[in-house]
Amino acid sequence: MAFTNKSSIILAIESSCDDTAAAVIVNGKVKSNLVANQTIHKSYGGVIPELASREHHQNIVPVVHKALESAGITKGQLDAIAFTQGPGLLGSLLVGCSFAKGLALSLDIPLIGVNHMEAHVLAHFVDDPIPSLPFLCLTVSGGHTQIVKVSDVSKMQVIGTTRDDAAGEAFDKIGKYLGLEYPAGPIIDKLAKDGTPKFTFTKPHIEGLGFSFSGLKTAVLYFLRDQVKKDKKFIANNLNDLCASIQYTIVTILMEKLEMASIQEEIQEIGIAGGVSANSALRAALLERKNSLGWNTYIPAFEYCTDNAGMIAMAAHYKYLRGVFVNQSVVPNPRLKIGQL
Ligand code: KG4
Ligand code: ZN
Repeated sequence: MAFTNKSSIILAIESSCDDTAAAVIVNGKVKSNLVANQTIHKSYGGVIPELASREHHQNIVPVVHKALESAGITKGQLDAIAFTQGPGLLGSLLVGCSFAKGLALSLDIPLIGVNHMEAHVLAHFVDDPIPSLPFLCLTVSGGHTQIVKVSDVSKMQVIGTTRDDAAGEAFDKIGKYLGLEYPAGPIIDKLAKDGTPKFTFTKPHIEGLGFSFSGLKTAVLYFLRDQVKKDKKFIANNLNDLCASIQYTIVTILMEKLEMASIQEEIQEIGIAGGVSANSALRAALLERKNSLGWNTYIPAFEYCTDNAGMIAMAAHYKYLRGVFVNQSVVPNPRLKIGQL
Protein backbone atom coordinates (compact mmCIF):
# COMPACT_ATOMS: atom_id res chain seq x y z
CA MET A 1 0.00 0.00 0.00
CA ALA A 2 1.29 3.48 -0.87
CA PHE A 3 2.21 6.02 1.79
CA THR A 4 -0.05 9.07 2.07
CA ASN A 5 0.78 12.54 3.38
CA LYS A 6 -2.12 12.51 5.84
CA SER A 7 -1.50 14.34 9.11
CA SER A 8 -2.32 12.21 12.10
CA ILE A 9 -2.92 12.28 15.84
CA ILE A 10 -2.89 8.79 17.37
CA LEU A 11 -3.41 7.54 20.91
CA ALA A 12 -1.47 4.31 21.55
CA ILE A 13 -2.01 1.84 24.38
CA GLU A 14 0.43 -0.83 25.56
CA SER A 15 -0.67 -3.55 27.99
CA SER A 16 1.16 -6.72 26.92
CA CYS A 17 2.71 -7.63 30.27
CA ASP A 18 2.87 -5.79 33.58
CA ASP A 19 3.07 -2.13 32.57
CA THR A 20 0.07 -0.05 31.54
CA ALA A 21 1.21 2.60 29.10
CA ALA A 22 -0.29 5.26 26.86
CA ALA A 23 1.26 7.69 24.39
CA VAL A 24 0.15 10.31 21.91
CA ILE A 25 1.94 10.77 18.60
CA VAL A 26 1.31 13.77 16.34
CA ASN A 27 2.54 13.50 12.74
CA GLY A 28 5.21 10.99 13.74
CA LYS A 29 6.47 12.91 16.80
CA VAL A 30 5.80 11.38 20.22
CA LYS A 31 4.18 14.10 22.35
CA SER A 32 3.57 12.13 25.55
CA ASN A 33 4.70 8.75 26.82
CA LEU A 34 3.27 7.61 30.17
CA VAL A 35 3.76 4.32 32.02
CA ALA A 36 2.10 2.98 35.17
CA ASN A 37 4.41 0.27 36.53
CA GLN A 38 2.93 -2.58 38.53
CA THR A 39 4.82 -3.30 41.71
CA ILE A 40 2.46 -6.01 42.96
CA HIS A 41 4.54 -8.78 41.26
CA LYS A 42 7.80 -8.03 43.11
CA SER A 43 7.23 -10.38 46.01
CA TYR A 44 6.15 -13.28 43.73
CA GLY A 45 9.41 -13.40 41.76
CA GLY A 46 7.61 -13.00 38.43
CA VAL A 47 4.53 -11.56 36.76
CA ILE A 48 1.25 -13.13 37.95
CA PRO A 49 -1.01 -12.89 34.86
CA GLU A 50 -4.31 -12.57 36.73
CA LEU A 51 -2.96 -9.79 38.97
CA ALA A 52 -1.49 -8.03 35.93
CA SER A 53 -4.81 -7.83 34.10
CA ARG A 54 -6.60 -6.57 37.21
CA GLU A 55 -3.98 -3.81 37.62
CA HIS A 56 -4.34 -2.88 33.94
CA HIS A 57 -8.07 -2.42 34.56
CA GLN A 58 -7.31 0.02 37.37
CA ASN A 59 -4.56 1.91 35.56
CA ILE A 60 -5.76 2.24 32.00
CA VAL A 61 -8.21 5.14 32.36
CA PRO A 62 -5.90 7.41 34.42
CA VAL A 63 -2.89 6.63 32.22
CA VAL A 64 -4.80 7.44 29.01
CA HIS A 65 -6.13 10.67 30.55
CA LYS A 66 -2.61 11.72 31.59
CA ALA A 67 -1.17 10.90 28.15
CA LEU A 68 -3.81 13.04 26.41
CA GLU A 69 -3.46 15.83 28.95
CA SER A 70 0.32 16.04 28.79
CA ALA A 71 0.21 16.03 24.97
CA GLY A 72 -2.39 18.81 25.08
CA ILE A 73 -4.76 16.74 22.94
CA THR A 74 -8.48 16.12 23.44
CA LYS A 75 -10.25 12.88 22.52
CA GLY A 76 -12.11 14.71 19.77
CA GLN A 77 -8.82 15.51 17.99
CA LEU A 78 -7.74 11.87 17.69
CA ASP A 79 -7.53 10.29 14.22
CA ALA A 80 -6.92 6.70 15.37
CA ILE A 81 -6.47 4.46 18.43
CA ALA A 82 -3.63 1.94 18.48
CA PHE A 83 -3.09 -0.96 20.85
CA THR A 84 -0.72 -3.90 21.34
CA GLN A 85 -2.30 -6.92 19.64
CA GLY A 86 0.44 -9.32 20.80
CA PRO A 87 2.60 -11.08 21.77
CA GLY A 88 2.02 -10.98 25.52
CA LEU A 89 -0.21 -12.24 28.30
CA LEU A 90 -3.75 -12.84 27.03
CA GLY A 91 -5.51 -11.26 30.03
CA SER A 92 -3.28 -8.18 29.86
CA LEU A 93 -3.63 -7.80 26.09
CA LEU A 94 -7.42 -8.10 26.38
CA VAL A 95 -7.64 -5.04 28.64
CA GLY A 96 -5.79 -2.77 26.18
CA CYS A 97 -7.52 -4.27 23.14
CA SER A 98 -11.04 -3.94 24.61
CA PHE A 99 -10.39 -0.39 25.81
CA ALA A 100 -9.02 0.64 22.39
CA LYS A 101 -11.96 -0.97 20.59
CA GLY A 102 -14.48 0.81 22.81
CA LEU A 103 -12.81 4.20 22.42
CA ALA A 104 -12.39 3.87 18.64
CA LEU A 105 -16.03 2.83 18.30
CA SER A 106 -17.31 5.71 20.41
CA LEU A 107 -15.16 8.25 18.52
CA ASP A 108 -15.86 6.56 15.17
CA ILE A 109 -12.17 6.50 14.21
CA PRO A 110 -9.91 3.68 12.93
CA LEU A 111 -8.26 1.10 15.11
CA ILE A 112 -4.63 -0.02 14.64
CA GLY A 113 -3.25 -3.33 15.96
CA VAL A 114 0.50 -3.32 16.66
CA ASN A 115 2.99 -6.15 17.14
CA HIS A 116 4.85 -5.47 20.41
CA MET A 117 8.15 -6.92 19.11
CA GLU A 118 8.04 -4.87 15.90
CA ALA A 119 7.32 -1.84 18.06
CA HIS A 120 10.44 -2.50 20.19
CA VAL A 121 12.45 -2.34 16.94
CA LEU A 122 10.65 0.82 15.79
CA ALA A 123 11.60 2.53 19.08
CA HIS A 124 14.76 3.36 17.08
CA PHE A 125 12.69 5.58 14.81
CA VAL A 126 11.24 7.78 17.58
CA ASP A 127 14.20 10.14 17.92
CA ASP A 128 17.11 11.12 15.67
CA PRO A 129 19.50 9.74 14.62
CA ILE A 130 17.43 6.99 13.06
CA PRO A 131 19.16 3.96 11.50
CA SER A 132 19.64 3.63 7.74
CA LEU A 133 18.07 0.55 6.22
CA PRO A 134 18.78 -2.33 6.14
CA PHE A 135 19.37 -2.42 9.86
CA LEU A 136 19.95 -5.22 12.41
CA CYS A 137 18.25 -5.02 15.78
CA LEU A 138 18.95 -7.25 18.76
CA THR A 139 15.66 -7.23 20.66
CA VAL A 140 16.16 -8.49 24.18
CA SER A 141 13.33 -8.49 26.68
CA GLY A 142 11.79 -10.61 29.41
CA GLY A 143 10.06 -12.81 26.86
CA HIS A 144 12.17 -12.57 23.71
CA THR A 145 15.71 -12.65 22.38
CA GLN A 146 15.73 -11.99 18.65
CA ILE A 147 18.04 -10.67 15.98
CA VAL A 148 15.75 -8.86 13.56
CA LYS A 149 16.71 -7.81 10.04
CA VAL A 150 14.81 -4.64 9.18
CA SER A 151 14.61 -4.05 5.42
CA ASP A 152 11.82 -1.50 5.80
CA VAL A 153 9.71 -0.19 8.70
CA SER A 154 7.03 -2.63 7.55
CA LYS A 155 9.36 -5.47 6.54
CA MET A 156 11.14 -7.30 9.34
CA GLN A 157 12.53 -10.82 9.55
CA VAL A 158 13.73 -12.72 12.62
CA ILE A 159 17.11 -14.22 11.66
CA GLY A 160 18.06 -15.52 15.12
CA THR A 161 16.13 -16.36 18.25
CA THR A 162 16.41 -18.27 21.53
CA ARG A 163 15.48 -21.91 21.75
CA ASP A 164 14.57 -21.64 25.44
CA ASP A 165 14.76 -18.73 27.90
CA ALA A 166 14.99 -15.08 26.88
CA ALA A 167 17.95 -12.96 27.99
CA GLY A 168 15.78 -10.92 30.38
CA GLU A 169 14.33 -14.13 31.77
CA ALA A 170 17.89 -15.38 32.42
CA PHE A 171 18.69 -12.18 34.35
CA ASP A 172 15.44 -12.46 36.33
CA LYS A 173 15.63 -16.20 37.13
CA ILE A 174 19.32 -16.14 38.05
CA GLY A 175 18.59 -13.05 40.15
CA LYS A 176 16.00 -15.08 42.01
CA TYR A 177 18.68 -17.68 42.88
CA LEU A 178 20.71 -14.77 44.29
CA GLY A 179 17.73 -13.70 46.41
CA LEU A 180 17.01 -10.56 44.36
CA GLU A 181 13.54 -9.13 43.74
CA TYR A 182 11.73 -9.35 40.41
CA PRO A 183 12.69 -7.95 37.92
CA ALA A 184 16.29 -8.72 38.81
CA GLY A 185 17.82 -7.43 35.53
CA PRO A 186 18.19 -3.80 36.65
CA ILE A 187 19.36 -4.88 40.15
CA ILE A 188 22.06 -7.15 38.70
CA ASP A 189 23.15 -4.28 36.44
CA LYS A 190 23.49 -1.98 39.47
CA LEU A 191 25.29 -4.52 41.69
CA ALA A 192 27.64 -5.54 38.86
CA LYS A 193 29.06 -2.00 38.77
CA ASP A 194 30.93 -2.73 42.03
CA GLY A 195 32.03 -6.22 41.05
CA THR A 196 34.47 -7.99 38.72
CA PRO A 197 33.52 -10.90 36.45
CA LYS A 198 35.82 -13.34 38.26
CA PHE A 199 33.54 -16.40 38.10
CA THR A 200 33.47 -18.22 34.76
CA PHE A 201 30.32 -19.87 33.41
CA THR A 202 30.38 -21.96 30.27
CA LYS A 203 28.71 -20.42 27.25
CA PRO A 204 26.32 -22.56 25.18
CA HIS A 205 27.38 -23.93 21.79
CA ILE A 206 24.41 -23.16 19.57
CA GLU A 207 24.66 -23.34 15.79
CA GLY A 208 24.16 -20.24 13.68
CA LEU A 209 22.35 -17.24 15.10
CA GLY A 210 20.40 -19.18 17.76
CA PHE A 211 20.61 -18.47 21.49
CA SER A 212 20.14 -20.57 24.61
CA PHE A 213 20.12 -19.41 28.23
CA SER A 214 18.68 -22.33 30.16
CA GLY A 215 22.10 -24.05 30.44
CA LEU A 216 23.60 -20.92 31.99
CA LYS A 217 20.74 -20.76 34.48
CA THR A 218 21.38 -24.38 35.55
CA ALA A 219 25.17 -23.85 35.64
CA VAL A 220 24.74 -20.88 38.01
CA LEU A 221 22.26 -22.83 40.16
CA TYR A 222 24.66 -25.79 40.59
CA PHE A 223 27.65 -23.49 41.14
CA LEU A 224 25.79 -21.60 43.90
CA ARG A 225 24.55 -24.83 45.49
CA ASP A 226 28.14 -26.21 45.67
CA GLN A 227 29.61 -22.97 47.01
CA VAL A 228 26.87 -22.44 49.61
CA LYS A 229 27.51 -26.00 50.89
CA LYS A 230 31.07 -24.89 51.73
CA ASP A 231 30.24 -21.35 52.87
CA LYS A 232 26.71 -20.36 53.90
CA LYS A 233 27.49 -16.70 53.29
CA PHE A 234 28.96 -17.25 49.81
CA ILE A 235 26.22 -15.37 47.95
CA ALA A 236 26.13 -12.39 50.31
CA ASN A 237 29.94 -12.14 50.39
CA ASN A 238 30.30 -12.35 46.60
CA LEU A 239 27.12 -10.70 45.37
CA ASN A 240 28.74 -7.95 43.31
CA ASP A 241 31.23 -10.30 41.64
CA LEU A 242 28.48 -12.86 40.97
CA CYS A 243 26.33 -10.19 39.32
CA ALA A 244 29.28 -8.92 37.26
CA SER A 245 30.12 -12.49 36.14
CA ILE A 246 26.53 -13.34 35.16
CA GLN A 247 26.07 -10.06 33.33
CA TYR A 248 29.40 -10.48 31.53
CA THR A 249 28.43 -13.99 30.36
CA ILE A 250 24.98 -12.94 29.08
CA VAL A 251 26.35 -9.87 27.30
CA THR A 252 29.17 -11.91 25.72
CA ILE A 253 26.68 -14.49 24.40
CA LEU A 254 24.49 -11.73 22.91
CA MET A 255 27.36 -9.80 21.33
CA GLU A 256 28.98 -12.89 19.76
CA LYS A 257 25.78 -13.66 17.85
CA LEU A 258 25.23 -10.04 16.91
CA GLU A 259 28.73 -9.90 15.42
CA MET A 260 28.03 -13.13 13.55
CA ALA A 261 24.78 -11.67 12.17
CA SER A 262 26.54 -8.49 11.06
CA ILE A 263 29.11 -10.51 9.08
CA GLN A 264 26.51 -12.88 7.62
CA GLU A 265 24.12 -10.11 6.50
CA GLU A 266 26.89 -7.62 5.65
CA ILE A 267 25.08 -4.96 7.68
CA GLN A 268 26.85 -2.48 9.96
CA GLU A 269 23.79 -0.47 11.05
CA ILE A 270 23.19 -2.16 14.39
CA GLY A 271 20.92 -1.44 17.35
CA ILE A 272 19.60 -2.96 20.54
CA ALA A 273 16.03 -2.74 21.85
CA GLY A 274 13.78 -4.16 24.56
CA GLY A 275 14.09 -4.07 28.34
CA VAL A 276 17.57 -5.65 28.47
CA SER A 277 18.89 -2.90 26.15
CA ALA A 278 18.75 -0.73 29.29
CA ASN A 279 21.65 -2.84 30.60
CA SER A 280 24.77 -0.70 30.96
CA ALA A 281 27.24 -3.47 30.03
CA LEU A 282 25.29 -4.34 26.88
CA ARG A 283 25.11 -0.68 25.91
CA ALA A 284 28.86 -0.29 26.49
CA ALA A 285 29.61 -3.45 24.50
CA LEU A 286 27.58 -2.19 21.55
CA LEU A 287 29.20 1.25 21.63
CA GLU A 288 32.65 -0.38 21.75
CA ARG A 289 31.90 -2.00 18.35
CA LYS A 290 31.66 1.49 16.89
CA ASN A 291 35.43 1.84 17.17
CA SER A 292 36.55 -1.78 16.95
CA LEU A 293 34.28 -2.86 14.06
CA GLY A 294 33.12 0.43 12.51
CA TRP A 295 29.45 -0.22 13.27
CA ASN A 296 26.90 2.59 13.28
CA THR A 297 25.23 1.82 16.61
CA TYR A 298 21.77 2.76 17.87
CA ILE A 299 20.30 2.63 21.37
CA PRO A 300 16.83 4.07 22.04
CA ALA A 301 16.40 6.61 24.84
CA PHE A 302 15.92 4.79 28.15
CA GLU A 303 12.14 5.43 28.26
CA TYR A 304 11.79 3.67 24.88
CA CYS A 305 13.86 0.60 25.88
CA THR A 306 11.59 -0.99 28.48
CA ASP A 307 7.89 -1.51 27.68
CA ASN A 308 6.29 1.77 26.66
CA ALA A 309 3.49 3.07 24.46
CA GLY A 310 5.70 5.55 22.56
CA MET A 311 7.07 2.66 20.50
CA ILE A 312 3.52 1.37 19.89
CA ALA A 313 2.60 4.88 18.74
CA MET A 314 5.57 4.96 16.35
CA ALA A 315 4.59 1.63 14.80
CA ALA A 316 0.97 2.85 14.59
CA HIS A 317 2.07 6.04 12.82
CA TYR A 318 3.64 4.03 10.00
CA LYS A 319 0.54 1.82 9.75
CA TYR A 320 -1.71 4.88 9.67
CA LEU A 321 0.28 6.30 6.75
CA ARG A 322 -0.14 3.00 4.89
CA GLY A 323 -3.84 2.78 5.81
CA VAL A 324 -3.42 -0.51 7.67
CA PHE A 325 -6.30 -0.79 10.15
CA VAL A 326 -8.13 -3.57 12.01
CA ASN A 327 -11.87 -3.82 12.56
CA GLN A 328 -13.96 -4.31 15.69
CA SER A 329 -13.75 -8.12 15.44
CA VAL A 330 -10.00 -8.03 16.18
CA VAL A 331 -8.76 -10.22 19.05
CA PRO A 332 -5.34 -10.23 20.76
CA ASN A 333 -2.83 -12.91 19.84
CA PRO A 334 -0.53 -13.88 22.75
CA ARG A 335 1.83 -15.68 20.33
CA LEU A 336 1.89 -13.09 17.57
CA LYS A 337 5.02 -13.41 15.41
CA ILE A 338 6.99 -10.66 13.67
CA GLY A 339 5.60 -10.09 10.16
CA GLN A 340 2.25 -11.72 10.99
CA LEU A 341 0.08 -8.56 11.05
O1 KG4 B 1 10.87 -5.14 27.23
P1 KG4 B 1 10.54 -5.29 28.68
O2 KG4 B 1 10.30 -4.04 29.50
O3 KG4 B 1 9.28 -6.21 28.88
C1 KG4 B 1 9.05 -7.37 28.11
O4 KG4 B 1 8.47 -7.22 27.00
O5 KG4 B 1 9.52 -8.43 28.57
O6 KG4 B 1 11.71 -6.14 29.32
C2 KG4 B 1 11.71 -6.53 30.66
C3 KG4 B 1 13.01 -7.27 30.94
C4 KG4 B 1 13.06 -7.90 32.32
O7 KG4 B 1 13.51 -9.23 32.19
C5 KG4 B 1 14.10 -7.04 33.06
O8 KG4 B 1 14.82 -7.74 34.05
C6 KG4 B 1 15.00 -6.64 31.92
O9 KG4 B 1 14.12 -6.37 30.85
N1 KG4 B 1 15.80 -5.44 32.23
C7 KG4 B 1 17.13 -5.46 32.39
C8 KG4 B 1 17.51 -4.14 32.72
N2 KG4 B 1 16.39 -3.35 32.74
C9 KG4 B 1 15.34 -4.17 32.43
N3 KG4 B 1 18.02 -6.47 32.29
C10 KG4 B 1 19.31 -6.18 32.52
N4 KG4 B 1 19.75 -4.95 32.85
C11 KG4 B 1 18.91 -3.90 32.96
N5 KG4 B 1 19.36 -2.70 33.28
ZN1 ZN C 1 8.64 -5.64 25.66
